[in-house]
Formats: sequence, C-alpha cells, structure tokens
Amino acid sequence: MSTLAINGGTPVRTEPFPVWPIWGDEEINALTQVVKSGKWGSLSGEKTGEFEHMFAQYQDAKHGILTNSGTTALRLALTAADIGRGDEVLVPAYTFIASASSIIDAGAIPIFVDIDPNTYNIDVAKAEERITDKTRGIMPVHFAGRPADLDAVLALAEKHNLIVIEDAAQAWGSEWKGKRVGAIGAAGCFSFQSSKNINAGEGGIILTNDDLVAKMAR
Ligand SMILES: Cc1ncc(COP(=O)(O)O)c(C=O)c1O
Repeated sequence: MSTLAINGGTPVRTEPFPVWPIWGDEEINALTQVVKSGKWGSLSGEKTGEFEHMFAQYQDAKHGILTNSGTTALRLALTAADIGRGDEVLVPAYTFIASASSIIDAGAIPIFVDIDPNTYNIDVAKAEERITDKTRGIMPVHFAGRPADLDAVLALAEKHNLIVIEDAAQAWGSEWKGKRVGAIGAAGCFSFQSSKNINAGEGGIILTNDDLVAKMAR
C-alpha cells in the first residue's frame, strides 16, 4: 500500500478545492441591473416575483413566497398552516437547529424522533410511537438533499390527521418518485443561505399548493 500523504507520501490532490460561492459576470450584471433600477425592494421591483414564480414552477409547486431566511420560512409556514400554541410537532433529532427552533418560535413543541441510520432522515415508525393527542404536525427534513420517505410520512399524516411541513432547506432539486419536494406536504421551506446550492447570502422560500396557506404566509 502506498504511504499516506500525511506520512510523506505523494498527495492525491495537489490543487486546493474550489471556493464557494462560484460567481461571475452573470451575477455581477444581474446585481448591477437591480442596483441601477433603483427598485431594491419587492414592493416596486420585479425580481422577487419572478424568482418566486420560477422557483415554484421548477419545484412543482403552485405558490412561492420568498422570506429573508430558511428559518423564517419554517416559522411562517407553521403559523400559516395553523400550527400554534400547545401543538406538538414531530421532528427528526438530527438536523439543523432551525427545524426545532422554528417550532418553538411558532408557540408549538418539537417532539424529537430518531433517524433511520441508513438515510439520516426521520424514522417514520418511531414517529408514530411518539404521537399523543396533542400531535398536530410532522416536519420531515430532507437531509443533505436526500428526500425523507414521503409515502410513509403522508400515510402517517393521513392516519393521525397531521399537517406536514417539509424542511427542504438542503433539498433544492430533490425529487420524491418523480415529483420535486417542497409542496408534497402542506408546505415546504428552502434556504438560500450562503452554504446552500443557491446562495443569496441569506434568504428562503415557502412553497405550497394550498391557496389558503399561501395567502396566510404572504
Ligand atoms: C435543515 C435546515 N433547516 C433549516 C435551515 C435554516 O435556513 P437558514 O440558515 O436560511 O435560516 C437550514 C440551513 O441553514 C437547514 O440546513
């Protein structure tokens, strides 16, 4: 066996990994166009509406509502879908803190459910064990872009009358059985924070097919 680079062997990689974000003239020109338009906010500018429409369409959703972060998107989506004070929401124990903190922020109680070690996503059989008469919602997280088992999540939701809010912060472009994630449950939330595949520095969006949820979120 060859010697590891750390022990003086030849490194496999000699160039540094590319930096993130990757950007060029396209981004500079788009940004310059907005700056020069003088329409920097969504009240007078067109870019927000355009992006909401394009992203929702790409992700197979009827409505898109942009927010200032993925965390805000989750927080708003919960309230818009009528989850609030005293309600319990099932959430995987392994995720970014905002999945749980948005539930608390909405006045509800996060109930942690273990993950399936093969997928790192919520274990739906274990989720069912944690259902009480206060359980009102479930928040599957599509961890690292790998969709949660949405057939199982939707079946559980149907059986126990639960509202499904997808945490799709890391799941831009992900599909479940040919359908893009986000609006498969009542609503789904994405992040455009600087480490994500679409990087706005900070940003987020709620997707939904439900007209009332969209109206409430807006
Ligand atoms: C799974 C998950 N949920 C929620 C968020 C929150 O998104 P944001 O950082 O845009 O508030 C993130 C990203 O950081 C995330 O990875």
